Amino acid sequence: MSNRKLITAALPYANGPVHIGHLAGVYIPADVYARFQRRLGKDVAFICGSDEHGIPITIRAKKEGVSPQDIVDKYHAIIKKSFADLGISFDEYSRTTSPTHYQVSQDFFLTLYNKGKFTEEVSEQYFDEQAKEFLADRYIIGTCPNCGNENAYGDQCEKCGITLSPSELINPKSVLSGNPPILKETKNWYLPLNEYEDFLTEWILEGHKDDWKTNVYGQVKSWLSDGLKPRAMTRDLNWGIPVPLPNAEGKVLYVWFDAPIGYISFTQEWAAKTGKNWKDYWQDPQTELIHFIGKDNIVFHCIIFPAMMKAHGDYILPTNVPAFEFLNLENEKISTSRNWAVWAHEYVEEFPGQQDVLRYALLSSAPETKDNNFTWKDFQTKNNSELVGIFGNFINRVAVLIHKYYGGIIPAGNAEAEELLEIKKSAAEIAQYLENFEIRNSLTALMNLARFGNQYLQIEEPWKTIKVDPKKAAHSLFIGAQIAVALAQLSEPFMPFSSEKLLQMFNVEKMNWEDIETKTILIETGHQINEASLLFSKIEDSTIEFQIQKLENTKEENKKVLTLNPSPKERDLSSKNASESHEELAAQTEILTPVKDEIQFDDFAKIDLRTATIITAEKVDKADKLLKFTVDTGVDIRTVVSGVAESFSPEELIGKQVMILLNLAPRKIRGIESQGMLLLTTKSDGKLTFVTPDEPVENGTIVG
Ligand code: MF3
Ligand code: ZN
Repeated sequence: MSNRKLITAALPYANGPVHIGHLAGVYIPADVYARFQRRLGKDVAFICGSDEHGIPITIRAKKEGVSPQDIVDKYHAIIKKSFADLGISFDEYSRTTSPTHYQVSQDFFLTLYNKGKFTEEVSEQYFDEQAKEFLADRYIIGTCPNCGNENAYGDQCEKCGITLSPSELINPKSVLSGNPPILKETKNWYLPLNEYEDFLTEWILEGHKDDWKTNVYGQVKSWLSDGLKPRAMTRDLNWGIPVPLPNAEGKVLYVWFDAPIGYISFTQEWAAKTGKNWKDYWQDPQTELIHFIGKDNIVFHCIIFPAMMKAHGDYILPTNVPAFEFLNLENEKISTSRNWAVWAHEYVEEFPGQQDVLRYALLSSAPETKDNNFTWKDFQTKNNSELVGIFGNFINRVAVLIHKYYGGIIPAGNAEAEELLEIKKSAAEIAQYLENFEIRNSLTALMNLARFGNQYLQIEEPWKTIKVDPKKAAHSLFIGAQIAVALAQLSEPFMPFSSEKLLQMFNVEKMNWEDIETKTILIETGHQINEASLLFSKIEDSTIEFQIQKLENTKEENKKVLTLNPSPKERDLSSKNASESHEELAAQTEILTPVKDEIQFDDFAKIDLRTATIITAEKVDKADKLLKFTVDTGVDIRTVVSGVAESFSPEELIGKQVMILLNLAPRKIRGIESQGMLLLTTKSDGKLTFVTPDEPVENGTIVG
């Protein structure tokens, strides 16, 4: 086995904060593994960073009415801090907008280009002439050919679930301008994945049948048996890394091309800072490369990226790709858009000093082989019964009794006692499980050692024997101390904050894993320990009720909200049409005002809505928000007052065709009689915009 481990965790999209689903399904397990490997004495590089390109970012930017750069700056900072707060021990956490990353991914692209690894294909793509942008799948809506849903997306109808391509939509419309898009020819560079089928079959299907997780192996097998198709590695978008070729204006690298290269560029950035040689990590076949990912990323890490690496030729391939399933929250799918999540940054604020509780709870329900569930009640039980009741209780009893009977000095005991074998056994077991990425089992093995310690004290009862058989009591607490120090050492990958406290408490240094497994004793007789400090404390019902109430409130909110586009149910992206990621879909949903009570057609028919043209517009004295208009309604000329002065200057509105509610009872506004109401809506930046007919029509035409 090699001494070098390159461990990566999927780059989170910087389009929102991270939640417990991300943590349980990628980052905490990866951190446990990385910490464990360091304790084994391996030369570890644990690499991650923010994924800052792609549609998920631009969608979020449009939604928040700011630039993509603003979005990634904001969320990169939040995500980076959450990881640090939760003790995720990345050696490097960078971002794909870094200059090094631009350079490395453009070089990578050029290497493939110069080696003739790409094919150039001209295809017709939808283009919005007004917005002057090619439209990615999610930017086109139209009528579903299957069920008639008028708001189907370019890649899928959310109503009937069918997978679509943009050309199948009836009456396609651009989400950007609302106009029908035109088809425009565009050239892109494709990686002919079909040419890599043999390589992938041999490498994964034949080479990793036994050592890769079945969910990963199964997905790869199914992709390969369906046959691979060339895939475009460039996109017509204005947010991304420019394609480094002449005549490639307006084209950027596909986000799934540049993002995984981030693992390489971030390693280079880290190496430059630490005086390491990055090539040792990426080019020495002895290095073991492990990608921690969620199941929606399997195809990208097991097929596309390896094909890119193979085409490039200079880099190693992953030794393993442990992919996790998804975590649910209170039995429902975690959803960014519906705010159905426990956010890392909120947890850190609401549970100060209790990072390990979350780490523990998430690890014990890590979605390893199937989707798993997080509930607040469970979280409380895990803390109160396991961390406080077993782990903390054992440590506390040992430390308190050693202080009470021996002034904090480890008493004498028999170093040959068979109970000590239990420590070696646990250390070996945890190691074995961790090497196999069975994180939950490894955590159970750790807890079992604490259980064992508790039972041991219960049987030995040193608090009784101290009076009748002091030698026995001393021995019991000597053994107790060995187990406690073992827990201090072994818990570090899982609960680094508590481990740190424990080591401090027992006044010992971190040990190498092998030493824990082999040394006869872990703390010597005569060693002075420090004051006992509290490791875990009980979580009260009221705390849990508060969190549950928070989720209840979210539910209430969600009941009231209407989604702008029909709610995209977050699809299970283990399926093959995974185009970008679930986050992309989550970013899509807009939250609007509650839906009003149902009305009958007759109610609607009472409304007289018509087109009109603004003839004059002027400011209203001493009213910052108001403009006074005269409008030609086709039936008469009227005065209307409207609160739009913060969004428009009067001049720009003259001659504009608008819609007017004609039969609204006149109202006096600032002394002026307003005879009707102009229809407006609000843009994502908060400014108003007029509702207007698509094309000019006669004034006075009925709207409805
Ligand atoms: N940002 C992607 C997601 O959240 C993961 C990118 S992993 C990388 O699904 F390998 F591409 F970097
Ligand atoms: Zn449909």
